[in-house]
Amino acid sequence: MHHNKRRHHGGFVVINYDSKNKIFHLQTQKASYVMHIDSGYLLHLYWGKKINRYRGSRPLTEMPRSFAPYADPARRGFTLSTLPLEYPAYGNGDYRHPAYQIQLENGSTITDLRYAGHVIYSGKKKLNGLPATYIEQEQEAQSLDIMLQDPVAGLSVVLTYSVFRDFNAITRSVRFENIGAGVLRILNAVSASIDFRDDEYDSLSFYGSHNNERNMDRRPLAPGSRVIESVRGASSPQHDPFFALMRQNADEAKGEVFGFSFVYSGNFRSQIEVDQYKTTRASIGLNLFDFSWRLDPDDTFQTPEAVLVYSDQGLGGMSRTYHHLYRERLARGKYRDQLRPILINNWEATYFKLNEKKLLAIAKEAQKVNIELFVLDDGWFGHRDNDKSSLGDWFVDKRKLPHGLAWLSNRIHEMGLQFGLWFEPEMVSPDSDLYRAHPDWCLHVPNRLRSLSRYQFVLDLSRKDVRDYLEHSLSSILSNANINYVKWDMNRHMTEIGSALLPHDRQRETAHRYMLGLYELIERLTNAFPNILFESCSSGGGRFDPGMLYYMPQTWTSDNTDAICRLKIQYGTSAVYPPIAMGAHVSAVPNHQVGRITSLAMRGAVAMSGNFGYELDLTKLTDEEKDAVKKQVAFYKEIRPLIQFGDFYRITSPFERGDAAWCFVSPDQSEAIGFYFTVLASPSQVQKSFRFQGLNSEFLYENNETGHVYGGDELMNTGLNVPIEKGDFRSYVWRFRKVVE
Ligand code: DGJ
Repeated sequence: MHHNKRRHHGGFVVINYDSKNKIFHLQTQKASYVMHIDSGYLLHLYWGKKINRYRGSRPLTEMPRSFAPYADPARRGFTLSTLPLEYPAYGNGDYRHPAYQIQLENGSTITDLRYAGHVIYSGKKKLNGLPATYIEQEQEAQSLDIMLQDPVAGLSVVLTYSVFRDFNAITRSVRFENIGAGVLRILNAVSASIDFRDDEYDSLSFYGSHNNERNMDRRPLAPGSRVIESVRGASSPQHDPFFALMRQNADEAKGEVFGFSFVYSGNFRSQIEVDQYKTTRASIGLNLFDFSWRLDPDDTFQTPEAVLVYSDQGLGGMSRTYHHLYRERLARGKYRDQLRPILINNWEATYFKLNEKKLLAIAKEAQKVNIELFVLDDGWFGHRDNDKSSLGDWFVDKRKLPHGLAWLSNRIHEMGLQFGLWFEPEMVSPDSDLYRAHPDWCLHVPNRLRSLSRYQFVLDLSRKDVRDYLEHSLSSILSNANINYVKWDMNRHMTEIGSALLPHDRQRETAHRYMLGLYELIERLTNAFPNILFESCSSGGGRFDPGMLYYMPQTWTSDNTDAICRLKIQYGTSAVYPPIAMGAHVSAVPNHQVGRITSLAMRGAVAMSGNFGYELDLTKLTDEEKDAVKKQVAFYKEIRPLIQFGDFYRITSPFERGDAAWCFVSPDQSEAIGFYFTVLASPSQVQKSFRFQGLNSEFLYENNETGHVYGGDELMNTGLNVPIEKGDFRSYVWRFRKVVE
């Protein structure tokens, strides 16, 4: 499907150890990452633009500092309080935020990890039970395990680094092992911590809420700490498990950017700390807040993976690396490399008021406009007439669907459409047979209120019996009807986090054990049903994270389907996640979330910039509108390979100017499509331009509509005029194809 122009061949040695100087040098295509062992401490020397060989430039300065404890009695300037450290501890001289903390049986939290050996090997190991980037052939990556040990604590820590041949990324994760006789307790364990030698960066992160996901926030670093985190038991729409440090002069297309992305769907914590000497410590990992993990002798604990991307081509360069890596070596399964079906979802058309007649009528219209997949959303099971009941009772509601799911699916298949189904497996309604039979199956704490949210509780997926029940009940539905697609929803955050089965000193493991249980359940189901396309969802894009993308190659981006709001949501989401992963639907106007009226063309162009579909009652459209929809579907089918497997370039930010623009370029640069969206009309109109990015300046490109031929250099530099028209909310689309003159 894709011809990645970045692929390169030849000798693949990307991890070097210089034993004389005790230097590790990791090289991606464009970046170098250098570490040094001194007195057994693993120090961080450099992460940035690729250098061929590290010959000791910019050595660490040993400077005695007031109040600074020193780690080597003979070297007063060798102080952990200022040295850049690769996996720092608290308690022996470093006053910045530590990467980990372990409590020993005697109550002490002092540990001292020193270098104990390392291995460099080809390939990349799987992380047991956790989502992670992967390789398909050993020669696609090289890895480094650095062993650190603290004999007093009986603790061994392995820092694992992997470097990809085809992607400009380095992954990091950490494994703890109790090699002593006493019980250890992990109080904190990030997956990556990096000390930068200055503070001249902006931080970039994404925040939001339901219906308003992934707003960009860029601000200069300041003394002290900035923490971006989730304590909700989900990665959350409030904060994305990602941040970047950007050089102050970096923008979309140029400058240095350092991305940190965390492959996990639960509580995470990113911290950026600037100290008194203007150095910056940045880390990402599990959230230490309300977390601890008992590590018995011989037990191991594996942290999730952090994916580090360095770009000297601005944020756009960073995003395209994440897009390629996450599309090709994080997402898995049959659909990873396949064009995704154009779907119609009945949620905004019927909400809970669905019946066979209505659904079939919508499907019939969908078939006429050549939509490919019909998705039956919430409300088909138990007695679910509203959101107050039935989660957990995964049995078809015969009042609404008297002939059952298999029958319905067959009717829809007969029309030539595939059939998909909504589930919210992780939840239980108090008003359900499941809850009445198993009131202890949800997360709860004895003698405490069980807080409701959307009238539901969270099932305790740390329990095997709960996972077995879900696997069994979902499997029986999925194998008894012809189901091609599953929308896996999750609509509340955790409260009263406790498990009825865990002992008292493991209660603070519950939220992480839940995630491990969730991953195990999804792994089992996706393996059992390899032909089903899974889309994850959490009240829209509330769990849009790399962890879920490992199991499900696409995610519903937001419940907010308003085209104007979507400009920002999709723009922000694209910082890390590829457009193919972003579910984007045309819905009815006035829009159900914000009441705005936009044209069908505008709604279409915005949704076509992602993984395209519809979410409205097609039977209510006029013939003219149906015709327009049919044309949109046909158009998307033409551009689908470009959108889903092309390179994505953000051009104008809706967070800055209101207007938004972006383009997609095919991997061989022979095809491109550009989108420009205006928001509010202005009285004295300005002639705006659209300048492509990512084209080949040597190629000639023909405009599909006008036949006009331009050079790639012209399209990228001179650009095109955006038509001057009256009216709010306009969209413009240009398609170009390479021609030979
Ligand atoms: C939240 C999802 O984001 C919506 O798309 C829809 O599936 C509802 N849940 C159904 O309850």
